[in-house]
Amino acid sequence: MNYDVLIVGTGIAGLYTALNLRDDIRILMITKNSFRDCNSYLAQGGISTSLGLFDEENYFNDTVKAGNYHNDTKAVKLLIKNSIENINTLIKLGVPFDKTKEKLNYTREGGHSEFRIVHVKDETGKSVTETLLNIVSKKRNITMLENTALIDLICKDNTCYGGILRDSHRTYKVNSKFTILATGGIGGIFNSTTNVEYLTGDGLNISLKHNIEIKDMEYLQLHPTVLYEPDVKGKKLLLSESLRGEGGIIVNQNKEVFINPLLPRDIVSTSILNEISKTPTNPYVYLDMTKKSKEFLMYRFPFLYNECLKRGYKMDKDLIPIAPAHHYCMGGIKVDLFSRTSMNNLYAVGEASCTGVHGSNRLASNSLLEALVFAKQASENINSKINEIHYKDIIFESESYALDSYDELISYLKRKVDNKYAKLFNCW
Ligand code: SIN
Repeated sequence: MNYDVLIVGTGIAGLYTALNLRDDIRILMITKNSFRDCNSYLAQGGISTSLGLFDEENYFNDTVKAGNYHNDTKAVKLLIKNSIENINTLIKLGVPFDKTKEKLNYTREGGHSEFRIVHVKDETGKSVTETLLNIVSKKRNITMLENTALIDLICKDNTCYGGILRDSHRTYKVNSKFTILATGGIGGIFNSTTNVEYLTGDGLNISLKHNIEIKDMEYLQLHPTVLYEPDVKGKKLLLSESLRGEGGIIVNQNKEVFINPLLPRDIVSTSILNEISKTPTNPYVYLDMTKKSKEFLMYRFPFLYNECLKRGYKMDKDLIPIAPAHHYCMGGIKVDLFSRTSMNNLYAVGEASCTGVHGSNRLASNSLLEALVFAKQASENINSKINEIHYKDIIFESESYALDSYDELISYLKRKVDNKYAKLFNCW
């Protein structure tokens, strides 16, 4: 099988890459589960955007301050410069961002000095993913396959020539001029996470085995406000940071405020952990939304209001028990400003990649923006080069496939990640 471009992953980064490639490019998109089993679908809060030229410096400062100044400043500038254009594209494509009197309604989250986050109620990711899926699935140059995993790359002399795919019936080879890893994060390997359980760092695992450069894997992010459900293992209910942006506070077991709820995530999570360590038999604190009316909460946060209700919490009346859980991986497959990895003709986009935008702690709602901006960078780069590249039918020479085992990835992560992180939350 020959395709011009093979895209692995159908979250927002993969879909937006496909959409920005030329219509005469033949694309194969695959996902190892179903199209909706991705972290993009779960994103609640929204997408950050610059508010205009006047906001670019503030937005830059917020991003690098949250990232503890470990960010790649060129990548951050590119992210911010291209933010409005990409949000406008989503609007043109039909994403129904919330508006007040015909103007975009911006919300705020931790670490932002401005209200600059566009959203679709509290299910922004679902809305964007559905919009893109609907358009991409109708494009005649794009073939989409569910339940199909990339189990290895076909590569020789540090150049990628396609991938080995596996579905429930067979293992087969696809030759491609360019391959794009949009395989998402690593939340599936933790016991307590906001991520989809299938996301087990496949792109990273394969990259490690082929000596493709990986960056910043020591930087993992906890989300401070995840519903405390001790009996649930794996994926837990995220309580969006925008709840705090709209007035929510965090209190301890004595109902006292102990932290400004709108500081960057790493600070809020650490402070919650300190507080929790004082009450080991009740290892949680509370999100308090009770200052907000039921009408407001049901209108602005319909998904979360109902999810809490299903579990017995009335958001307008009850304190909601919360504890931090794994949320995001700042590191990933190292890419340049065009999303190119260290292997020729191989790109990475979205959470699987590391553009350096996030430093050591991602600013809230910068992940979907990064996915959009750097997916477009990848597409434009491929659009300009595709006619120069020809297929090569390389023989796959290994006796086993890179995805046969995760041992190497897990031991790599254990070497990289501060032990404190793993031990404190019993996350592994
Ligand atoms: C949230 O809604 O709190 C998650 C948004 C993000 O991860 O940036």
